[in-house]
Amino acid sequence: MNKVQAQERINKLRELINDYRYHYHVLDESTMSEAAADSLKHELEQLEQQFPDMISADSPTQRVAGAPLPGFTSVKHSQRMLSLNDVFDESEVAAWLDRLKKLEPVNELFVDIKMDGLACALVYDDGMLQRGITRGDGFVGEDITANVRTIESVPLRLRGNSEFTQGRTEVRGEIVMYKEDFEALNKEREAAGSPLFANPRNTAAGTMRQLDPQLVAQRKLYFRGYDLLRANPKDVPSNEFAYRTMNDLGFGVNMKYELVPADATSVMKVAEHWEEKRHTLPFNTDGLVIKVNDRSTFARLGVVGKAPRAAAAFKYPAEQSTTKVKDIFISIGRTGAATPVAMLEPVVVAGSTVQMATLHNETEVKRKDIRVGDTVIVHKAGDIIPEVVEALVSLRDGSEKQFVMPTSCPDCQTKLVKLKAEDAVWRCPNEECPSRTWKRAQHYASKAALDIEGLGEKNVIALIGSGLIKDAADIYTLQREEVIKLDRFADISASKLVEAIQAKKNPPLSRFLYGLGIRHVGTQTAIDVANHFRSLDSIGRATMDELSEVEGVGGVVAESIVEWFAEPVNQKLLEKFKQNGVTPQEVQQVGGPLQGKKFAITGGLESMSRDQAAERIRALGGTFQSSVGKDTEILVVGANVGASKLAKAAKLGTNQITETDLIKLLEQ
Ligand code: IVH
Repeated sequence: MNKVQAQERINKLRELINDYRYHYHVLDESTMSEAAADSLKHELEQLEQQFPDMISADSPTQRVAGAPLPGFTSVKHSQRMLSLNDVFDESEVAAWLDRLKKLEPVNELFVDIKMDGLACALVYDDGMLQRGITRGDGFVGEDITANVRTIESVPLRLRGNSEFTQGRTEVRGEIVMYKEDFEALNKEREAAGSPLFANPRNTAAGTMRQLDPQLVAQRKLYFRGYDLLRANPKDVPSNEFAYRTMNDLGFGVNMKYELVPADATSVMKVAEHWEEKRHTLPFNTDGLVIKVNDRSTFARLGVVGKAPRAAAAFKYPAEQSTTKVKDIFISIGRTGAATPVAMLEPVVVAGSTVQMATLHNETEVKRKDIRVGDTVIVHKAGDIIPEVVEALVSLRDGSEKQFVMPTSCPDCQTKLVKLKAEDAVWRCPNEECPSRTWKRAQHYASKAALDIEGLGEKNVIALIGSGLIKDAADIYTLQREEVIKLDRFADISASKLVEAIQAKKNPPLSRFLYGLGIRHVGTQTAIDVANHFRSLDSIGRATMDELSEVEGVGGVVAESIVEWFAEPVNQKLLEKFKQNGVTPQEVQQVGGPLQGKKFAITGGLESMSRDQAAERIRALGGTFQSSVGKDTEILVVGANVGASKLAKAAKLGTNQITETDLIKLLEQ
């Protein structure tokens, strides 16, 4: 990049980041995610490092934001409200701890979930709520007492009678909106035609800055404490003591905090636990807060800049980032769907490198106006396929190219068609299209289908490319001697693959059915259909009407199954499976102890995942439903379930049981 281009890019990045910050901090609106903005800021920082003479005083990299709003009275904090420095991985935790230990002996850490809301200080005098104050710039905040009083989880008077109900006690914490309440609120707004809120954090922050407390009272918000302050710091010897005391005084606090030895490995154990479980929490969280437990050590370690040395925020890998679209190509799926896929400059999102992201279909590319050369926001959460959220249009320089949907399959050149005129998806109708063939074989071997170890995407492509197999049924004829000849295989891996394949000659019917890759037949439908008809032959003979009798199978699914079995190519495939010795197990009459019982689960379970619970319920003859409905008989209530969900289930008359009850049922 030359100097002129760099200056141009820098200007555009600054404008976009400033715009984001203004919306975020002043208007409580979000124009993009924090992670995406961080990613742009990172690019700006790097450019400024490369061209230091382009750094200007008004660059977003050079300032600390947060102007107070007019309309509220400003109040000085008794003690500065600090923020936290971030650490992102084990080595950064270790480095932070090493720095601390050089200054003070540290042996115990207090670890809590970092809530994504709005910081607030509550001041009590002789046990009575005097004031609620926002963080503001840390020294001076806004007086939001009238609004805070409307939050039911904020005690107006402290409970009990102790030294803390005498004199001045300050409780600091986070005001959050639960995910479930946020979704309900947005649904209401959608129905009323009002603009939707971006996320729970901004909604909570925006609500607290309303000048009309009536409006605040209508929104469901929660206050959860994380800090307790007294004029005499000796009153609060440790952070653990602070949490217990806040709890006694009537505050909601996370009593699942953990005390761990002061080493990075122990911290990472907690981090891994919550990173996996965080989606079961009622509010959003993007990490942990780690603090030295002993408060006199905490105080002696002091403050650097805006943050205490003795605390850190551990952040989970960002789920969004920005990068550039290098190209857009078409990927043909096993059902023939032609999906535009963006090829990206590699970027790390949620802990792994992303080079490709789905653009879903032609209509989506047009709606989002994503062009080759665009800087885009990429999103990835957990195991889901990375997705392009939006193009940052203001960063365009005119060289970007609009995407044109091809009219024929890039692989077999067959003309692409739409099944129905109103469909968004173009398809390659050629059943023998090479892309479709290898994707079908790969699907058959995948985890949720036959689960054949060693038969991933690359090996399937190699086997098809070498002509050893043409479809999924051919894998059963593979011989060790011929597999070894391929570059990708050695003696042992070839033997292992052949063994793994041979071990899957009698798959459960539902897995085999799912593995056939029939459109609209997902894992659950495959189980329901298999349980109903019990043999492959019966499924193949079933009419539309018979199929529609299966619960959860509607007209579209029934039609797709009937069409699949009627197709001569597919009949040949089934015949080949038979000849190669593949016989799916017929489903025995189950009649288990949960026969006929319909279960649903709300909230998170401690001892097993939702999928595991579903599988165990089904194994005993029960039915698992993904959401509560009129016919649900038993609702398993896990952790952190919002009141509205429980009320809905109670209204329907659904029997509610706990996780412990469920385990008893499963173990009977
Ligand atoms: S303790 C010295 N604990 O995160 C600051 N903060 O990024 C001690 N936050 O300012 C803060 N959950 O507003 C603490 N469990 C938690 C928290 C938490 C959210 C917020 C808080 C803080 C910010 C720092």
